[in-house]
Amino acid sequence: MAFARLSAVIAFAFATVQVAKGSLIKRITCPSGQVTANKACCALFPIVDRIQKDLFDGGECGEEAHSALRLAFHDAIGFSINGTGGGADGSILAFNKTENAFRKIDDITDRQFPVFLETGLSAGDFVHLAAAVGTGNCPGAPRLRFFFGRPPPKAAAPDLTVPEPTDSVTAILSRFADAGFAPHEAVALLSSHTIAAADEVDPTIPGTPFDSDSQVFLEVLLKGKLFPGNGSQPGEVLSPLAGEMRLQSDFVISQDSRTACLWQNMINNQTRMTRQFKRAMHKMQLLGQGTLTDCSDVIPVPKPFAGPIKYPASFSQADVQQACVQSAFPSLATVAGPAPTVAPV
Ligand code: HEM
Ligand SMILES: *[C@@H]1O[C@H](CO)[C@@H](O)[C@H](O)[C@H]1NC(C)=O
Ligand SMILES: *[C@@H]1O[C@H](CO)[C@@H](O)[C@H](O)[C@H]1NC(C)=O
Ligand SMILES: *[C@@H]1O[C@H](CO)[C@@H](O)[C@H](O)[C@H]1NC(C)=O
Ligand SMILES: *[C@@H]1O[C@H](CO)[C@@H](O)[C@H](O)[C@H]1NC(C)=O
Repeated sequence: MAFARLSAVIAFAFATVQVAKGSLIKRITCPSGQVTANKACCALFPIVDRIQKDLFDGGECGEEAHSALRLAFHDAIGFSINGTGGGADGSILAFNKTENAFRKIDDITDRQFPVFLETGLSAGDFVHLAAAVGTGNCPGAPRLRFFFGRPPPKAAAPDLTVPEPTDSVTAILSRFADAGFAPHEAVALLSSHTIAAADEVDPTIPGTPFDSDSQVFLEVLLKGKLFPGNGSQPGEVLSPLAGEMRLQSDFVISQDSRTACLWQNMINNQTRMTRQFKRAMHKMQLLGQGTLTDCSDVIPVPKPFAGPIKYPASFSQADVQQACVQSAFPSLATVAGPAPTVAPV
């Protein structure tokens, strides 16, 4: 409400800019001097600043940023093309009592709730804006799009819509298909596990990452030799590196004939990974929503990936469990030195 009143009393500078492709893109300079395509987006710039300050410790790619991305997934995937679930509607925050009971994400919603209230956004806009902003704090991530104007959610999502790490590839792919996603999109969405760590899989080692540095697609294929914490847990399989956790679901997807080449093609192609992830996230963040306003230009531009992808020290192609038979494995260098221990986040 405050946003509407604010925009009504302010004169916006309109300009039309001719871009290289020849298409016309509307540009509006907000009272703050920031530039966006739609005046409705001006209200979001200070909200983004507030989310950065109050939720992401001043713009970090830390646990809260990772959690915000995961929450957006859990929120949106409560959708079925067969007509159930509100999709990317923020029901995970607004109906947190119901959805927490079956998703174990109350530590995330608890942390987000006060910031959500401060912003005055709808729950859906908040969850999906926070995910886009938080992801943008991570070097090498794509700049996710953000569309604005989700109405308040109507109901909690149905139970059992979030895939479990103990699920089979068939179960995971059919759940994604039921939400409208093809196998290549499911694999693309798992790029998220490059900025991920587990707290709950093995509670004795909270914050255990799934990879060492933006290379989950490589490291999931390396021969496993250890469990990083208190032995084998449900949903966990042998990991190649001390301090690193491998999810069973990531591993079986990397090995299955339906997904192995999709997985392998992501290893050393940052452009492919970021483009496909961005596209699939955009689709996911609009599930169940009507027409929204494109406010993508309020999202900060991420820092580039330091790259290139390399085998962790002491590893080589001899350690790869290659499951894609149709294409050659990429040729990668190895980091010098002894095998690393991955630090918790
Ligand atoms: C096959 C589907 C998936 C399964 C089985 C799965 C499973 C998991 C599990 C078990 C964790 C660790 C939770 C914990 O112990 O704290 C996790 C973390 C995470 N997942 Fe997934 N996930 C899947 C897909 C996705 C997708 C599609 C996204 C986002 C687009 C995502 C984003 C994340 C993030 C960012 C984290 C880290 C959260 C943090 O560090 O706080 N996951 N996932
Ligand atoms: C759940 O939502 C209520 C409001 O409905 C809020 O007061 C509470 O802080 C939220 N709790 C969590 C864990 O998100
Ligand atoms: C939709 O529901 C029908 C019947 O319940 C089921 O046969 C079909 O597989 C579902 N669609 C998807 C994509 O799961
Ligand atoms: C470690 O695992 C064992 C066996 O699974 C279990 O009995 C024990 O309680 C676990 N220890 C901790 C600290 O969780
Ligand atoms: C990277 O992936 C894109 C498709 O997303 C493809 O066109 C390109 O050839 C790939 N590059 C390499 C070096 O494999």
